[in-house]
Amino acid sequence: MRYPHKPVLAREAADLLVYDPEGTYVDGTAGSGGHSEVLASLLAAGGRLICLDRDPDAVSLTSRRMLSFGDRVLVLQGSYAHLDRHLETLGMMRVEGILLDLGMSTHQLERSGRGFAFSRDEPLDMRMDPGRGETAAEMLNRLPIRDLERIIRTWGEDRRARRIAGAIVRARKRSPIETTRQLASLIESLSTPGRRRGRIHPATRTFQALRIAVNRELDHLAEFLEKAPSLVNKGGRLVILAYHSLEDRMVKQAMRRWENPCTCPPDIPRCVCNRPPLFRSLRKKGIKAGADEVRQNPRARSAVLRAAERI
Ligand SMILES: C[S@@+](CC[C@H](N)C(=O)[O-])C[C@H]1O[C@@H](n2cnc3c(N)ncnc32)[C@H](O)[C@@H]1O
Repeated sequence: MRYPHKPVLAREAADLLVYDPEGTYVDGTAGSGGHSEVLASLLAAGGRLICLDRDPDAVSLTSRRMLSFGDRVLVLQGSYAHLDRHLETLGMMRVEGILLDLGMSTHQLERSGRGFAFSRDEPLDMRMDPGRGETAAEMLNRLPIRDLERIIRTWGEDRRARRIAGAIVRARKRSPIETTRQLASLIESLSTPGRRRGRIHPATRTFQALRIAVNRELDHLAEFLEKAPSLVNKGGRLVILAYHSLEDRMVKQAMRRWENPCTCPPDIPRCVCNRPPLFRSLRKKGIKAGADEVRQNPRARSAVLRAAERI
């Protein structure tokens, strides 16, 4: 079977994560199972891989793809933010390594029919787990203008956030916004022709912002980063791939804090809080995909991979 999603920096991520082939690892964002397949191929007979995804389609795709690995691989539906609970139900507290490949998959974008892309006309759903929470359309038609503006500005990093939020509120008074085409056309109509010829479509940032808001992606990441030190065994690894500057900043800051958790005021001569470091970074800087990979897989362009080892 052909899988539309090409895993980014797959070899680098797997080599940094799997330091003990007999260990237990988690792929917290299984998607189409691209990274999972590479991770599982590095495991010995005693090694285990737990694959997790919020999206039931991702769970089916990964389950099918991982069949040949037999009972060394377990695929579950759920959020990596609740990994502690998933491990507990399996009778575990900690693992040797966790991989997160944030954002959405090509499958979600191109084949889910849930309105992640504006290139097709689909209902504006955008939930990764369609069994939970409010759809993008419900959110768009309910939120006050201030909240819409904040979401588009913060998570879409779009300077036209106020104009777009205003246009959404005016349009929904006439009739509710229900489809990707309705929203994309509305945003297109605000752009000057010069802007329309620009590199990205004028609706790109709003769609990204809505997806992040609907799925509360940064909340899930923050919850996971809070728990991560208690989920990884000593010597174990954490590898995170981020595609959005806000997500990457959260990961970078967490890794810095873990490496240097001292909370003493900078003007005292030596540390008295005695907080021990929790992780050490495995690379000083984030790893980026090379030109060849970006040519073959444009999604890799914005990826930053960060890795740390539990002390
Ligand atoms: C970039 S894709 C992963 C692709 C995967 N690494 C592969 O090679 O096929 C991101 C995946 O993370 C999932 N996801 C996003 N937030 C999640 C969360 N909080 N918990 C679990 N899965 C999540 C999405 O549903 C999506 O399938």
